[in-house]
Amino acid sequence: MAYQVIIPAAGQGKRMGAGKNKLYLTLEDTPVLIHTLRVFDEDEECGGMILAIHPEDEAQFKDMIHFYGIRKVTSMVHGGRERQDSVYSGVKVLEEEGIVLVHDAARPFIKKETIHSLVREAEMEGAAIAAVPVKDTIKRADSNMVTETIERSSLWAVQTPQAFRISVLRNAHEKAVKEEFTGTDDASLVERLPHKVAIIEGDYDNIKLTTPEDVFFAEAILKKRKQ
Ligand code: CTP
Ligand code: MG
Repeated sequence: MAYQVIIPAAGQGKRMGAGKNKLYLTLEDTPVLIHTLRVFDEDEECGGMILAIHPEDEAQFKDMIHFYGIRKVTSMVHGGRERQDSVYSGVKVLEEEGIVLVHDAARPFIKKETIHSLVREAEMEGAAIAAVPVKDTIKRADSNMVTETIERSSLWAVQTPQAFRISVLRNAHEKAVKEEFTGTDDASLVERLPHKVAIIEGDYDNIKLTTPEDVFFAEAILKKRKQ
């Protein structure tokens, strides 16, 4: 079944330190933004992309989308101060029924198979997220003194895409706005409804480009894929 996808792209890339939105950085001559959009553009089940952008990027993003022949951006909305505000701007223009994905523009390596598994799961359960088992041992600390080692076998490192029935995501965002709650992902807003959230095991190479070394990892992932 067709889905829509909200793509938050309105950040400033401060941790990347490139002096501009990291989505302009190129991997094999193609901007990160375009790598991400292309995955959905080429997915026959994708019914439309809602792109949340910073007003300063509007002209240049439009040029890139045109230049690279991306066809499925159905709307561009202005994002907000936090990622959550940007996603909410997208939620406001969603069609009424169906499934919506939220996927960070800064994660260019998402696979179609994961997208489709998430859509199926969200159709059944209402909410599903991509995640991978945590590899590192995770400890809690008070300042720099360890207070607890957390049992790793039940820990997941959460990624995007996250998939939802549209009504579930809309209710979750409206409740968060009303209660002034800010979460680090959309599922955390859905959990507070409360509503169950299913996990689909994703891939370790679905990285988010966040700090400068991620660019080297991204180049290595692209090279591996071409082999
Ligand atoms: N994002 C957004 N609106 C914001 C902040 C972030 O749409 N106000 C988007 C980013 O463009 C990115 C995704 O959310 O695609 C994940 O955010 P993050 O990796 O934190 O990107 P930035 O906020 O750009 O980076 P930083 O936090 O280092 O400034
Ligand atoms: Mg950020």
